[in-house]
Amino acid sequence: MPDDSHNQLLFIETVGCQMNVLDSELVVAALREDGYELTDQVQDADTVLFNTCSVRDHAEHKIYSQLGRLKYSKRHRPNQVIGVFGCMAQKDQELIFQRAPHVDMVVGTGQLAEIPRLVSESRRDRKRALAVSLARTGGSRDEVASSFESYDPLRDPTMRPTPFQAFVRIMIGCDKFCTYCVVPTTRGPEQSRPPSQVATEVRTLAGQGVREVTLIGQTVNSYSHVEDGRTWRLADLLELIHDTDGIERIKFVTNFPRDMDNGLLEAVRDLPKVSRYLHVPAQSGSDAVLERMKRGYTVDEYREMMGRINEIVPGCAVSSDFIVGFCGETDEDFEASVRLVQECRFKNSFIFKYSPRSGTKADERLADDVPESVKRDRNARLLDLQTRICEEDNAGFIGRTVDVLVEGPSKMAQKQRKRQLLTAPHPVPGVVLFEDDGGDVVSLEDPQTTDPVGGPIQLVGRTDCDRIVVFDGNPRLAGSLTAISVDDCTATTLIGRIVTREVQHAPVVELPVV
Ligand code: 5AD
Ligand code: SF4
Repeated sequence: MPDDSHNQLLFIETVGCQMNVLDSELVVAALREDGYELTDQVQDADTVLFNTCSVRDHAEHKIYSQLGRLKYSKRHRPNQVIGVFGCMAQKDQELIFQRAPHVDMVVGTGQLAEIPRLVSESRRDRKRALAVSLARTGGSRDEVASSFESYDPLRDPTMRPTPFQAFVRIMIGCDKFCTYCVVPTTRGPEQSRPPSQVATEVRTLAGQGVREVTLIGQTVNSYSHVEDGRTWRLADLLELIHDTDGIERIKFVTNFPRDMDNGLLEAVRDLPKVSRYLHVPAQSGSDAVLERMKRGYTVDEYREMMGRINEIVPGCAVSSDFIVGFCGETDEDFEASVRLVQECRFKNSFIFKYSPRSGTKADERLADDVPESVKRDRNARLLDLQTRICEEDNAGFIGRTVDVLVEGPSKMAQKQRKRQLLTAPHPVPGVVLFEDDGGDVVSLEDPQTTDPVGGPIQLVGRTDCDRIVVFDGNPRLAGSLTAISVDDCTATTLIGRIVTREVQHAPVVELPVV
C-alpha cells in the first residue's frame, strides 16, 4: 500500500486579478469539504498550491522564483504535493514541469473542479498530473468552449476580501483578441452564465451576510445570454439582481469601451444600488497604437463614450488601464496618451509597461522596440500625471458628506494590531498576494480578524463612486452604510469623520455635528 498520509494543511498563494481571487475561494471551499485546513506557513503544509497569472512577465517570474524556493522541501515532506493552477498553468503546461521538476500537478483555468481529485491521486500514485483545456485552435468553438468549464459551485466565506463583499462571475473567457493579451488563450472563449444562476448565487451570498457584490468578467459589459426566449444583457442582469434583500451595492468590472451602450449607462443611472463607477480601460490615446493593439475603437470613439457616460450618469467615476511602450509607440503616440488622461481625468489609472507574451499576435508579428528605460520613463510620467489628477479631484470632496460602505479596519489599523500581537499572521490564512508592478492585485484583508479592545480605530470603506475613505470608528460598523464628512485627502484616500447626531433638549431638533 502506498503511504499517502498527509497533515491536511493547505497553503495557497494567489496572484493576479479578481477572477483568480474568486477561483482560489472556490478551490479552497472544495478542499475544505475534503477536510483540508488553511495555513499561512508554506513550510508546514503538505499541500501547496499556486494560483497564477500570465498577463505580464513579472507575475510569472514571481511564481517561478517561489517554486524555486520549494525545490528541496520534499526531503522533509515526502508526501507533499505541489500544484500550479490558473493562467500560467494553461499557458506553460509541460514547461512548468521542465522548469520546476518538483511540481506534481499543473491544472488549467477550466479544470479547477478536478483539483481535489488530482491532489489525492498525485499523492497516492506519485505521478504527475497535467489537466488543461484545448488550445483555441484545438477544435470547434463548442469543443474548445466546453473544455474551459466554468467552476462556480461552492463558496467559502472566509476566503473573501471581507465578509460583506463577494465576487460573482457572470462570464468567463474573452473573444476580443487584443494583440498584446494572453487572456483569450488562458481563459478560453467568451461564455456568459445564465442569469437565473447568477441571481441564485447573489441570493445565497446575501443570505450569508454579503452586502456588496462585484460582477466579474474580462469584458463584463459584453455579457449576453439567451434564457426564456430573450437575450439578457448586463443591464437586464443588474435589474434582475437589484432588489435582492440584503444587497446594498452592486459593482461590475471590467468593461470594454466598444460595448458601453446607453442601456447599460441608463441602468447605472436608474438603479440606486449600482455604483456610479466604471472601469473602462483605454490602453492608449493614439489611434495608430490602438490599431496595432486591435482594440477595435479610435480615440475619438473613446471620447464619445466618455461624453455619454458624463451626460447619462453625471458624477460617475471612470478608471482606466494604459499600456506604455507598446510596439512602435513613438513620443507623439505617448503624448497622445498623456492628453487623454488629462482630458478624461480618470478616478485612477493602472499603468503597465508593455510585456511581450508568447502566443500573442503582437509577440509574433510586432517588434518590442521601445527600450526598457523609455518604458520606465513613460510609466512614471503617466503615473505622476494621474496622481496629480487624483489629488485635485479628491480635494473637491473636502467639506462634503459621502455615504460609505464600511469594509473594516484600515491597513494601518491592521498593521498596528499585528505589531501589538508581535506576530504577523496574514489576515486570510494561507493567502498571500503579491504586489504587482501595476498595482492591479486585489489584496485580501479580513476586518473580522481585528477585534480591538476599547476605543475607535481607523476604518476603511468606499463611496458610491468607489473612492476609498478612512475614518475613526467602531469596527462593528463593518458592513454598514455610514455617512462620513470629508476633512482631508491624499491622492488615493479621502480622510473624514463619522457624521454624528446630537439631540438638543429644546427646541427638539436633530442637528448634525460637523
Ligand atoms: N503587457 C502589459 N500590460 C498588459 N495588459 C494586458 N496584457 C499586457 C501585456 N502584454 C494590461 C492591460 C489590461 C490589464 C489587465 O493588463 O492594460 O487592461
Ligand atoms: Fe485581453 Fe483585450 Fe480580452 Fe481585455 S479585452 S482580456 S485586454 S483580449
